[in-house]
Amino acid sequence: MTQLQTNPQINTVGIDQISFATSKSYLDLAVLAERNGIDVAKYHYGLGQELMAVPAHHEDIVTLATDAASRVIGEGKRNKISTLIFATETGIDQSKAAGVYVHRLLGLREDCRVVEMKQACYSATAALQMACALVARHPKEAVLVIASDVARYELDTPAEATQGCGAVAMLITAEPRIAVVHPEVGNYTEDVMDFWRPNHSKTALVDGKFSTEMYMKALVNAWNYYQKNAGMAFSELDHFCYHLPFSRMGVKAHRKLCEHVQSGLSREQSDAQLAASLEYNRVIGNSYTASLYLSFASLLDHGKDLAGDNVAMLSYGSGCVAEFFAATIVDGYQQHLHSDIHERSLLERVALSYEEYVEYWNYPDPVDGEEVVIESHRHHKGPVLRSIRDHKREYAIN
Ligand code: CAA
Repeated sequence: MTQLQTNPQINTVGIDQISFATSKSYLDLAVLAERNGIDVAKYHYGLGQELMAVPAHHEDIVTLATDAASRVIGEGKRNKISTLIFATETGIDQSKAAGVYVHRLLGLREDCRVVEMKQACYSATAALQMACALVARHPKEAVLVIASDVARYELDTPAEATQGCGAVAMLITAEPRIAVVHPEVGNYTEDVMDFWRPNHSKTALVDGKFSTEMYMKALVNAWNYYQKNAGMAFSELDHFCYHLPFSRMGVKAHRKLCEHVQSGLSREQSDAQLAASLEYNRVIGNSYTASLYLSFASLLDHGKDLAGDNVAMLSYGSGCVAEFFAATIVDGYQQHLHSDIHERSLLERVALSYEEYVEYWNYPDPVDGEEVVIESHRHHKGPVLRSIRDHKREYAIN
């Protein structure tokens, strides 16, 4: 009989590299507030949002994903990638995985499996957990996880100010240089209609207040299951990263958790446990599947000396599925961040007028095979959507 050996690397699997990308343009929410006759304090304090990333016509989930992933596959790691898992709520095709385009644009090896996952804003966490399981099984291989979304709601609705877009790419390996992801999790699933997008709709349908209530309920239940499944105690967790449809949601969720566990922390102490994780979301907006990991990237880039710290993560996807889990930051992680590129990419963005924003919002989407050449791509370097013809999207790297 074969003696089964425990793989010593199984418990060190985690995030080796992480980077994000967002659109090159944004709308200042002060512009939206003025146009909609709303006190801007509602956006700045009520939602905790300042700027909202708006994709141009040549930018979509594939170009953002390719941009983010191009930074995490360097240093000889490209040929180790045996699987690419693409998580998104805003898929561009009902059949073909968006990751297949990314696979070509990044020049990944042809014996790499590619698949797309969906469950609203949650699916990137399922992708991460599956990636960890695959790497535990084949520790010499790496798995590329990409979360990429464009959050779109109807104009002139309360949800309009919570749009945004972004992609986060993570390379999962057995010897991670950023964070070890622990196997203990707490999951919670309930069939509810708080936010959804029927196949015929380009924008999400949402029962706004109910969605925030479901988020809180799912958080408490996921936490309870996390505790039941031998997760870390609240006092062992140093920082908290939440799914951030808008940054104030994370602040409220964390206050709720502190109350639930009777942490005894003051509001200032509670808020300090997630402050560094909110910075990017405040100026990018919702990026659905990418949002929790953008929050983690924000903590890594803005937090001080995190080595050895335990980071709690709460993933929430409407509909709904939630998961609570934790990761521990690895010594020397600072040397493997892309903080400067992240900061520069945000500073170099262009502010849109309200009219330009509406023009971008009405993106070309031919339904009859008609040819559309995306002229704006000519002025941009990097991955772009060049045209749509015969119902086919044509991507390239300029
Ligand atoms: N100054 C300061 N604050 C102000 C203000 C002012 N002048 N005016 C209003 N506010 C505050 C309000 O008091 C409120 O804060 P509290 O919740 O702390 O009371 C906050 O601004 C929001 O204002 P409203 O209560 O009037 O809410 P709204 O009608 O603008 O809608 C929303 C807010 C429901 C979040 C809406 O933006 C929405 O539907 N967003 C999309 C759905 C969403 O993001 N849901 C989150 C959970 S679901 C999820 O997480 C999945 C996902 O990604 C979508």
